[in-house]
Amino acid sequence: MRKLEPALFILFGTTGDLAKKKLFPALYTLFSSGWIHPDTRVLGVGRRDWSDDYFQEVVMTSVRASQPVTGSAITDFLDLFSYFKMDITRDADYDDLWRSVNQMESGLEINGNRLYFLSTAPDLFPKIAQAIGKGQPAKEGAFRRLMIEKPFGHDLASAREFNDHLRRHFEEHEIFRIDHYLGKEMLQNILVLRFANQLFEPAWQKEYIDHIQITVSEDIGIDQRGGYYDRSGALRDMVQSHILQLMALLMMNRPASFDSESIRNEKVEFLKKICLFTEQDVMSSLVLGQYVEGSEGECAYVDEKGVEENSKTETYAALRLWIDCERWQDVPVYIRTGKRMESKQAKITVVYKKQNDAPAGGDVDANMLIIRIQPREGVDLRYNIKKPGTVYDIIPVEMSFCQTCQFPGQSAEAYVKLLIDAWRGDLNLFARWDEIEATWTFIDSIQKQREKTELHTYAAGKNGPAASDSLIEQTGHEWLDI
Ligand code: BG6
Repeated sequence: MRKLEPALFILFGTTGDLAKKKLFPALYTLFSSGWIHPDTRVLGVGRRDWSDDYFQEVVMTSVRASQPVTGSAITDFLDLFSYFKMDITRDADYDDLWRSVNQMESGLEINGNRLYFLSTAPDLFPKIAQAIGKGQPAKEGAFRRLMIEKPFGHDLASAREFNDHLRRHFEEHEIFRIDHYLGKEMLQNILVLRFANQLFEPAWQKEYIDHIQITVSEDIGIDQRGGYYDRSGALRDMVQSHILQLMALLMMNRPASFDSESIRNEKVEFLKKICLFTEQDVMSSLVLGQYVEGSEGECAYVDEKGVEENSKTETYAALRLWIDCERWQDVPVYIRTGKRMESKQAKITVVYKKQNDAPAGGDVDANMLIIRIQPREGVDLRYNIKKPGTVYDIIPVEMSFCQTCQFPGQSAEAYVKLLIDAWRGDLNLFARWDEIEATWTFIDSIQKQREKTELHTYAAGKNGPAASDSLIEQTGHEWLDI
């Protein structure tokens, strides 16, 4: 395996949840599978008064919680980590940081390569980006890359302002806007399924496809993230980012080639064609919901920590979308996503039009292609056959590819893949600015008139408000099982 170029990985947001749950385990996976160069170092930056030893203990605990760890690899891994205490709002502290970084680098063969990872509270992103941009220009012959966690803005105006700010200090090719869904195996598989098979693409259009359903449900609530989530809600948190990205990969035209620019060009083209919501759409094609107490003692959203007691933030959203292009004309796309639903599940169901002149006449079921993103990864194809026997009965059966069963444990965790790609400078799995711009434009069209629709409630542990059934039934469809 080719090692990743040695670099200094500087993490802002060291004490946060993402670092513990995702980044440290992902870095360990990279290390234990030989990707990490021995001269690479990880510098955790934070406000808390931690020693290097304490930081390494935190890293160890988080790695052990994520995967079995045996042998001495973990000790060698922990040796890569050190901690720098600073107040990231204070200019003077950056001078100390850069001094310390330069000192670290001088004893290592890392050629000035820097990978910065921002996962602090989003209001600190601009300050950090500016400090890096001003204080640490890219070194000749070295790379300087900035990985930024979502949210990228709160609406189009704030996203644009932040992006302009970033672009004053960084080139577009240095900016890696993270959408971790793009790192998921099955999202990458969408391109392969569509473009490495003759089977699907010719029928991937309005003549054959009746409608598409996208479900991303979660059984958890908002954990300790009330402060962030209450200002965000399901539309911003899940639809603007993950779901629209997924939809773009699913429905865009074939890219001119499969390099990152061509793929992202097609995604943008598609995203711009999603019809913006009018006042009428907000009233008829959108259902927002918020969970209330569940029967298993789950608390209501408004009783979660960090949430306003009269909060009108949606923890559930269902939408009917239309795409303004020849290929997808009159093909509705239904999306639903929510917290505290019955189960965690992400899947896409492509429902074909029914065959109305089947042998022996009669009504046959629609074909379906189900792309399972999580927790089970795989692809199921539902089609019709003749039921064995003397009577001409046509019944649906399923051809199933279960990736999780066939390749157990082999799917790369999203952050492992994203770190590898950013380290190599491959932008394919990261959102380009114009994608973000198009997705916020769409979300803004809803947000600016959202008060025209009511906020429904649903019991925690259930699959959203009843009104979402009416939404899909209005256009003659029904939600397929979660
Ligand atoms: C994050 C959202 O981007 O994605 C969270 O901010 C959500 O609210 C999470 O829980 C879902 O990710 P996954 O990988 O668990 O489906």
